[in-house]
Amino acid sequence: MDDTASSLACHGLEKYLGEDESRVHVLRGVSLAINPGEVHAVVGPSGCGKSSLLYILGLLDRPDAGTLWIGREEIATLSDDLLSARRNEELGFIFQFHFLLQDFTAIENVVIPMRRLGGSTDGEMRERAAGLLDAVGLSDKADRSSRALSGGEQQRVAIARALANDPAVILADEPTGNLDTANSARVFALLKDLVHRERKALLLVTHNPAIAQACDWIHTMRDGLIVDSAWHG
Ligand SMILES: Nc1ncnc2c1ncn2[C@@H]1O[C@H](COP(=O)(O)OP(=O)(O)OP(=O)(O)O)[C@@H](O)[C@H]1O
Ligand SMILES: [Mg+2]
Repeated sequence: MDDTASSLACHGLEKYLGEDESRVHVLRGVSLAINPGEVHAVVGPSGCGKSSLLYILGLLDRPDAGTLWIGREEIATLSDDLLSARRNEELGFIFQFHFLLQDFTAIENVVIPMRRLGGSTDGEMRERAAGLLDAVGLSDKADRSSRALSGGEQQRVAIARALANDPAVILADEPTGNLDTANSARVFALLKDLVHRERKALLLVTHNPAIAQACDWIHTMRDGLIVDSAWHG
């Protein structure tokens, strides 16, 4: 990715969800740009559209209006196949509800996205996955099945999984929501350090004011709009 382009940018994103009388105008024109090396927080009350915005930025849903770029590439021009390729190559997504494969071990959950990308041996993938699990404090639980992990442990596996393919852009929906103070600080430091050191881009949704304050930018959302964007870097 060349350094003059934002890692991720959107302009005028709109989204409607639901049918008929329950139809909601969930995003009403959202614009932002995240440059390499920046950590952005999105804050705002429950239901204001944070997760809906992340799903669109993460190429998991299409907007009803507006434009989205990953690097220099405009997403609307991509076929569904290219869209899923970009999602796997460029984006790491940490879900609000982590969606691990319960029948698989922690390390297998981290290896799965690497296998989709291809190009590495099984040994290389397992070594990288083990390193990521170590970075989130789970080296001793790599071979446990996901269903035998606590909520916070599962969340940390999900964070390791999001980093599996070394994404340029990381989107995280309350990545520390299930974590105690120590683990919350640890994974936030890990993500922030990675972004600053390797010029990645991170957008995270958080209800934790201490984490929001430690980000380079804070965007405040209300009723489907960003009503304030403040630089804290
Ligand atoms: N499939 C759907 N059909 C209709 N409305 C929906 C649908 N999904 C979400 N909504 C509504 O869209 C709005 C935005 O939801 P969203 O999940 O983006 O909120 P959020 O800001 O992430 O909230 P939270 O902090 O609780 O996670 C909410 O009012 C929600 O009820
Ligand atoms: Mg949400």
